Order: sequence, then C-alpha cells, then structure tokens
Amino acid sequence: MNDAEKLRRELEEEIQSASSPDDFERIRVKYFGKKGLVTLALKSLKELPLKERKRVGAQLNALKKEYERELKKKREGARARYSAKKWDYTFPGRVSEKGGFHPLSFVELRIREIFSSLGFKFVDGPYIETDYYNFEALNVPPHHPAREMHDTFYVKGHGSILLRTHTSPVQIRTMEKMKPPIRVGHIGRVFRVDPFDASHAPAFTQFEGLYVDKGVTFKDLKGTIMHFIEELFGKGTAVKFLPTYFPFTEPSAEVYMRWKGEWMEILGCGMVHPRVLKNVGIDPEEYTGFAFGMGVERIAMIKYGIKDIRLFTENNLKFLKQFPL
Ligand code: DAH
Repeated sequence: MNDAEKLRRELEEEIQSASSPDDFERIRVKYFGKKGLVTLALKSLKELPLKERKRVGAQLNALKKEYERELKKKREGARARYSAKKWDYTFPGRVSEKGGFHPLSFVELRIREIFSSLGFKFVDGPYIETDYYNFEALNVPPHHPAREMHDTFYVKGHGSILLRTHTSPVQIRTMEKMKPPIRVGHIGRVFRVDPFDASHAPAFTQFEGLYVDKGVTFKDLKGTIMHFIEELFGKGTAVKFLPTYFPFTEPSAEVYMRWKGEWMEILGCGMVHPRVLKNVGIDPEEYTGFAFGMGVERIAMIKYGIKDIRLFTENNLKFLKQFPL
C-alpha cells in the first residue's frame, strides 16, 4: 500500500467516527489544510520516481477532489443537525414515571398534619445520644431493669455515647430549651440490637409527643390519643388504655385499638414523671404534662395490612408502587 492509499484509509476511518461540526472541520484541516497531510504529500511528489509520481499524484488528487468539499458539506450538515437537536418538535413524546410517597413518609405526613392542627410544633433531635438523655434524665438510672428492654448499640470506646433506643430523649432536649406551655412532636429513627425479621428491625421509626402546661391531665392525654386514632383510622375506632410501667411516666398506659376484629397495641403513654420534670428544672407542683411514643412502621403495618417490617427497607418497586392506597 502506498502513501496515498494509506491516507485514504485513515481519512475514511476518521470520517466514520466523526459526528460534530468541529470533528469534520478538524479532519478537513488535518488532511487538506495548508500543512495538511494530503497537501504536503502533493508537494513532495517530485521526490518520487516519475512512474510512481504519476500514479500517486492521480490518487492524491482524486482523494482531494472527493473529500475536501465533502468535509465542508458534512460540517454544515452536522451543524444543522446539532441545532435541530435542541428543539426537535417532531420527537415523539415520552411519559415520565411518576414518583410516589414511601408508605412511611405517607404516614409521617398524616401524623404531622393531625398533630400540627392540634398546635404541636415538630422538632429535631440527634440519633447519636448520651446515656444521660437516653436513660438517666428519663428516670432510668444505671442498672435499672428497664434498660434490659432496650438492647443498646454503644459507640465503641466511648462508654456513654450510644445510638438512641427511643425518641424520648427529645423530650428532655426540648424541655431544657423551652418553657411551658410546651407542645412538641418528633419523628425519627431509633436503634436497638434486635434481629431483622418480620416483626423486628435494628433501626425503625418512632413518633414522640409531649405536652406540658399548667393543669394538663390524663383526660387531655386520652382525648388527644383518641382524636389521633380516629383521624388516622376512622371515626368510631374502639380504643382502650391499659395500665403498664414506664420509668418516665406515672401513671403509664399502653393503648390498644380494635382493628379487623383484633385488639392491636399501638403506643405507650402516660403523665410525665415528676422526677423527669425536676431533671429539666420544671416545677412539678406548678406544671404537669403527658407524653407518648409509638412505632411509625407499626402504624403503617396496621393501616395497610403489611405483614413484614423488612418490606419498608427492601425498596421493592412492586411493594412501593402500591402507595398511597
Ligand atoms: N419510649 C418508649 C419506648 O420506646 C415509648 C414511650 C412510652 C414514650 C411512654 C413515651 C411515653 O413518651 O410516655 O418504648
């Protein structure tokens, strides 16, 4: 293969892979510009033996004739295509996929809606807590048996730093900062050393509520919880309060609701323990309060008949596309 044939092959390959106006211009200059490869080859023809000179000369000229103007045309073509691409009104329309709410986000929004309308403000709180906020200030001293219900993740090498096991520490953080009347809600993740099975997860979501003011009674607590359950599950949903024990409330209750023929436990609550109020400098003789905490996954599982808590984090579209129902 002589030089002219080699140049043709390379040139044709480069045109094959060119697409933008600049690509074609660059190729034109490379081969046919003043110092282009074909231009220089034509200039050095005289160094070849006569017979060669004629043959190669004819080939180079043919190449020039075929491609020099062609490359300019291709550049114009590409330019037209490129500007048309920006505004191609003829391009067939495509329907974009619609996103939706994760079932937990949906329940969270409803909770925020219902409690905001009762005058609750939603606040934030850290997931990494100290022993003081997660346990001690909530009237759970070291070695208290209640700690056994909360199998805790501790931060290695930092004894008293842990992943919060419930959202109740937000009560303490709020009362340290605000003066009564206090009416706050908080929704966030909590962590426990638990297996990951149909009904347990090492991380899940809780909703915490707190109301502290002069003259707050158990009646207010009951009314608030019943209103919430009726808003979320429908008017006339039967609710019952059974006595139980929490270190941070006295008296304490667990709340059950009647759903599809069964009593389902849905939350824990009670009147804020006087010692908890004292811990944050609120006088329990002057103020009283109620608090409650519930699992948001559990609420969503009851409401939508979801049988396995793992579904919330598997990101299976077949599951997620069913919400909101
Ligand atoms: N913190 C409790 C738990 O995780 C739930 C709870 C019970 C929260 C009673 C409260 C309360 O605020 O008053 O099991």
